[in-house]
Amino acid sequence: MTPHISSKKEEIAKDVIMPGDPKRAEYIAKNYLEDYKLVNEVRGMLAFTGKYKGKKVTVMASGMGMPSMGIYSYELFKEYDVKNIIRIGTCGAYTKDLALKDTILVNGAYSESSYAKTQNGCEDKLLLASSPLNFYIKEAAEDLNKHLSIANIHSSDVFYKENDNFKELYRNEGCMAVEMESFALFHNANVLGKRAACLLTVTDNLVTGERLSSEDRQQGVNEMIEIALESILHYD
Ligand code: HPA
Repeated sequence: MTPHISSKKEEIAKDVIMPGDPKRAEYIAKNYLEDYKLVNEVRGMLAFTGKYKGKKVTVMASGMGMPSMGIYSYELFKEYDVKNIIRIGTCGAYTKDLALKDTILVNGAYSESSYAKTQNGCEDKLLLASSPLNFYIKEAAEDLNKHLSIANIHSSDVFYKENDNFKELYRNEGCMAVEMESFALFHNANVLGKRAACLLTVTDNLVTGERLSSEDRQQGVNEMIEIALESILHYD
């Protein structure tokens, strides 16, 4: 038990898939896992542990933003001995080169956030995903015949900006898309010697203003869920 998670230690698997939305955690458990059980509902941040093709896995929501992702991923890594966290989320594209429904495998997360500096003095602005985990995710996508766009992305603290500087972030920092959690996840993995990765479905495009319909959104998200779940079968 931790301040934010009521599960017993053995109720959380070493591999955790983390969507932002608790309803999506429930959706994954109901549609993809066998013998699953609800193991946390503190603050509605649902976690389910079950089996995917025989392998124990936990699906737990992170909530939105780096403070929330920071809390849950830290407690999972540190108090529950979780080894691998794969975030699955949605993002807004900063370029026309990404199409709606594309799946991004995050190489690195750039952020102006103070999360890493406040956490342990780290002044890095670009934090990388675990390369072994990304390797297994690429293998899984290949097996499933799914295309991945490998990209650096922006982890933003602010969803609603009065003056969006996304063109500068694209041009100067090479950020291809925006979400709000990966930088904190990657930092915690680095600090605690664990592995973290992130898959994102492109649900909107900031250049063209296009958005996915809810049906296409679900289909895009399903593909990402399948890649994430298959990837955990690629290692012990
Ligand atoms: N901004 C931040 N996070 C997001 C967005 C966005 O436009 N779209 C999906 N996640």
